[in-house]
Amino acid sequence: MIRRVRLVTGLVLFTYVSTHLTNHALGLVSLAAMNAGREWFLWLWRNPVGTIALYGSLLVHFGLGLWSLYLRRNLRMPALEALQLVFGLCILPLLTLHAVVTRLGFEWFGFDDTYTPLLLNYWKLHIDFGVRQALLLVLVWTHGCIGLHLWLRLKPDYARVAPWLAVLAVLVPVLALLGFADGGREVLRLAEQPGWIQQAIAAAHSPNAAERVALERTAEAILLVFAASVMLTLLARLLRQAYEHRRSAVRIRYPDGRTVVAPLGYSVLETSRSAGIPHASVCGGRGRCSTCRVRIVRGFKSLPPASAEELVVLKRVGAAPDVRLACQLRPSHDLSVTPLLPATATARDGFAQPDYLVGKEQEICVLFADLRGFTRLSERKMPYDVVFFLNRYFETMSRAIEQAGGIPNQFTGDGVMALFGVKSGPERGCSDAVSAAKSMLRGLAAMSSELAGELGEPLRMGIGIHAGPTIVGRMGHGEAMYLTAVGDTVHVASRLQDLTKLYQCQMIISEAAAQRAGIDVSGFPRHEVTVRNRTEPVAIRAIEDLESLPTMPEHVAR
Ligand code: FES
Repeated sequence: MIRRVRLVTGLVLFTYVSTHLTNHALGLVSLAAMNAGREWFLWLWRNPVGTIALYGSLLVHFGLGLWSLYLRRNLRMPALEALQLVFGLCILPLLTLHAVVTRLGFEWFGFDDTYTPLLLNYWKLHIDFGVRQALLLVLVWTHGCIGLHLWLRLKPDYARVAPWLAVLAVLVPVLALLGFADGGREVLRLAEQPGWIQQAIAAAHSPNAAERVALERTAEAILLVFAASVMLTLLARLLRQAYEHRRSAVRIRYPDGRTVVAPLGYSVLETSRSAGIPHASVCGGRGRCSTCRVRIVRGFKSLPPASAEELVVLKRVGAAPDVRLACQLRPSHDLSVTPLLPATATARDGFAQPDYLVGKEQEICVLFADLRGFTRLSERKMPYDVVFFLNRYFETMSRAIEQAGGIPNQFTGDGVMALFGVKSGPERGCSDAVSAAKSMLRGLAAMSSELAGELGEPLRMGIGIHAGPTIVGRMGHGEAMYLTAVGDTVHVASRLQDLTKLYQCQMIISEAAAQRAGIDVSGFPRHEVTVRNRTEPVAIRAIEDLESLPTMPEHVAR
């Protein structure tokens, strides 16, 4: 609820700032346009509803900002959040005098705060105020944009619209500042006319000296309350920390063997941060992104239950029952946890993900292919030619695999690994793998004839196909994270590919995979082989010429 209120009040304030800046931008047209636009602006915000929405939001937003500052167990945070916090704290000191003079000056002393007297003040009489206003504009806008970005980046479509929003985020303040400058230039021109300044001041009923003192005192009082609130919040944090450190502590153990002792009341995420352990937290610990999630390895049973909000987020990503959000979990006893995402996780990782991406035991079909005689070929070529050739080869193979419904997975040296049936199931996967094998060989033959002048002999390839249980998931680190599979089935498929050399054939398919593909391989030589590191023999069929393989039945053919 608190987060929602903070968001809504933030949105009201951002709307106010957007309309204000748009009004400034009218200075690019003329001073008269600025003043005309201001009538609309005031109609929107200087009525009882607009006034309550604006100043109510300002108070509540500021109060909740201090509350979240108090709640933070430590001040380590991502740079963007730190920038938002610092800019947020700078806003009131820069804003107060301007707000008091325009709004209270209008209410108390009838000051007609049009752009004319204000720009006269900022560009001629008190230039330092003008600089402050320009700085305030940039800080307020940036603070709001960061808030919007932190909120929206967890939405699935954000990446698509983000470039357009970024353009707006730059365009609006730039136009506003240019309008502010153009309006100022026009006022300076007018001010050159004798008597114009006095006339403008009188026409606007600008506050006299005594009235100005009253307004300045009011602004000072507001700033005093602001400074006291910030100081009190920081003091309250210190007192709470001192109190927490004297209470009992809990120990949290991490997968690398480190054990961190944290005061009771710390969340798991705060514990990680306090110990400098990198821990993903895209939403900054607000319980929205799910990237901080951890598996509870020990101590799960006696944990406090997850709140309804935490459950919603965990359900969204299909988390297992022993998974909790580190930012929401405040353990009351010792725990062992395993963070499930790398510290570099992005907002995208917080969206619902299919099981096969987060790790799942699954029956699939695995294909391995290897180019024959490539080492000899590469010895005769320049490095540039080798890279060019391999990239062409991988492109051809990838296209064949993808068109058949598979996932090209690993390219090592001149070898290719591909997964089939990850989404469609092992039966479909096996028939897709056989289709892919045929296309790959056709692609290779086409490459051979195209590069016949440079190749001493036609290119040849050996393919191994096997199906069975594997563990499928995104594995690796950072940029090198990709979907892959591990397990006995992968090992066997790789060994079958090796055996194509021994049996002098284009492809070796396990009988299990052929059966699942629904193809009759009874006419091909059968062998029972025991592959390395495996005791169980595997029944295989050696296919010398893949084109001689019977056509697949209609219900499995693509
Ligand atoms: S940090 Fe985003 S849900 Fe925990």
